[in-house]
Amino acid sequence: MTIRHFLTTQDWSRAEIDALLEQAAAFKRSPAGAQLAGKSVALLFFNPSMRTRTSFELGAFQLGGHAVVLSPGKDAWPIEFEPGMVMDGEPEEHIAEVARVLSRYADLICVRAFPKFQDWSVDRQDKVIKAFAQYATVPVINMETITHPCQELAHALALREHLGDLAKKKYVLTWTYHPKPLNTAVANSALLIATKMGMDVTLLCPTPDYVLDERYMEFGRLNAEQNGGSLKVSHDIEEAYSGADVVYAKSWGALPYFGRWEQEKPIREAHRHFIVDEAKMALTNHGLFSHCLPLRRNVKATDAVMDAPYCIAIDEAENRLHVQKAVMATLAGRR
Ligand code: CP
Repeated sequence: MTIRHFLTTQDWSRAEIDALLEQAAAFKRSPAGAQLAGKSVALLFFNPSMRTRTSFELGAFQLGGHAVVLSPGKDAWPIEFEPGMVMDGEPEEHIAEVARVLSRYADLICVRAFPKFQDWSVDRQDKVIKAFAQYATVPVINMETITHPCQELAHALALREHLGDLAKKKYVLTWTYHPKPLNTAVANSALLIATKMGMDVTLLCPTPDYVLDERYMEFGRLNAEQNGGSLKVSHDIEEAYSGADVVYAKSWGALPYFGRWEQEKPIREAHRHFIVDEAKMALTNHGLFSHCLPLRRNVKATDAVMDAPYCIAIDEAENRLHVQKAVMATLAGRR
């Protein structure tokens, strides 16, 4: 039987995503379950986490399962994915053994491995999660690599809770300043899920260099076509915010400057005014604001925006727990 993984929402149909969201809403109403009774989940973190680790661990517990947390290169051996491709130290073992051994212990393997700009290309991050899926004999769940599909589900559930049907709602994904370039994972994901929900999506960014990777732009266009929405790019703050139902913020580095971040810095610094503030939110259609968190206040969004009733970032963070329970219950039941 083919193993079903949760690596990207692009591998899941709109109907399947809707089913996961319905199951998540049911878990939100009634948290306890036995879907993971007697089952184990391995959580591998190559990067730090607060929300993801907590919500996966507690989610497994609430469904009767047990989670083991590992940090390769720290409390577990550094893993080699291909010659010369290893994170955090000298390689001690190959992904083939790691994935196969963990598959003998656990019913699900969950992996966080997002780009470290110093020494990792964007493509390599795809390779990490794909290597786990290649060698594992149990389902693999993406806890953030080059996309963050669990965040997508939590975001979509929060938007549905506040707006109902999302079709044709105006959705603005805005770049915001951050002192250092950040990865594009959540921005890619916001584009995927908003277009999959049939929303009219505007990607707002300072210059054409900040447009997202063409792979994700193309997925966004395809999703929009299939689900009755649209996707456009804007560099005009006022035009983008005007009439928006949702504003979602994220910082990311301009991919053409990959590895040359000092050259990107003056452009980044010149666009601090992309911060989400009350004046911009006043242009919206009583719009909601959200962010995946963590967020540096008064850098990406002001205190006033973060504390406003229209900020649903905490709802979205809570929903991580419910959607991940839906994903784990769905995948663990397939073996
Ligand atoms: N949004 C999110 O994934 O948060 P953490 O990095 O804290 O897990």
